[in-house]
Amino acid sequence: SAAGSFAQRVIRWQRQHGRHQLPWQNTRDPYRVWLSEIMLQQTQVQTVLRYYSRFLEAFPDVKALAAASEDAVLQLWSGLGYYSRARNLHRAARAVASQWQGEFPHSAAALATLPGIGPSTANAIASFCFGERVAILDANVRRVLARHLAFGEDLSSARAIEDLWRQADALLPHGSPEALVRDMPSYTQGMMDLGAQLCTPRQPRCEQCPVAQDCLAHRSARELDFPVRSRK
Ligand code: ADE
Repeated sequence: SAAGSFAQRVIRWQRQHGRHQLPWQNTRDPYRVWLSEIMLQQTQVQTVLRYYSRFLEAFPDVKALAAASEDAVLQLWSGLGYYSRARNLHRAARAVASQWQGEFPHSAAALATLPGIGPSTANAIASFCFGERVAILDANVRRVLARHLAFGEDLSSARAIEDLWRQADALLPHGSPEALVRDMPSYTQGMMDLGAQLCTPRQPRCEQCPVAQDCLAHRSARELDFPVRSRK
């Protein structure tokens, strides 16, 4: 349409209205992006902000983290919870040091072989740092997509999640490698920001949403019916 594709609308909205001042933005250093994504997996932004800078001061790069003891890493993690994240972080740093000469791999597929880096986290890092054309599917983005598509399946089923991955892939921006290096970070952050700022669980702000006109849930006033809830 005249206002552009889904992806172009998300990108334009992110640049105008999304978040830009988080400390893990405005960098393409995979170490910094990886650390933020692991901390943000189960912890709110406001809490992560207090831990993130302290952690980077203690371990400024992946080699410093690999050289640390596990106890030192766990100590800096203390209070964030889900300590398997910290153990995997340390193991992944050692794998990057020993198997990748201290340089994070650039592809999502290779990133996903590292401890603690699942498919969505691998794709977040590869899109933010290297402009790879890959989708993310964290809880916020699942909600955005489930509403956009009026996705009728329960997201606790593996088949439903596979289907949602395919639909997420189909909505990615298109362009030359240079265009994607510029656009993929805005798109990925835009999907996260839509979920955090507008497409919230209970009170979505559809009047401000750049893709509301194509949102199947919004068009039928059923925003709160998606994602479909498991009755279990
Ligand atoms: N949650 C996961 N990744 C994030 C990011 N890059 N910015 C804000 N919240 C996030």
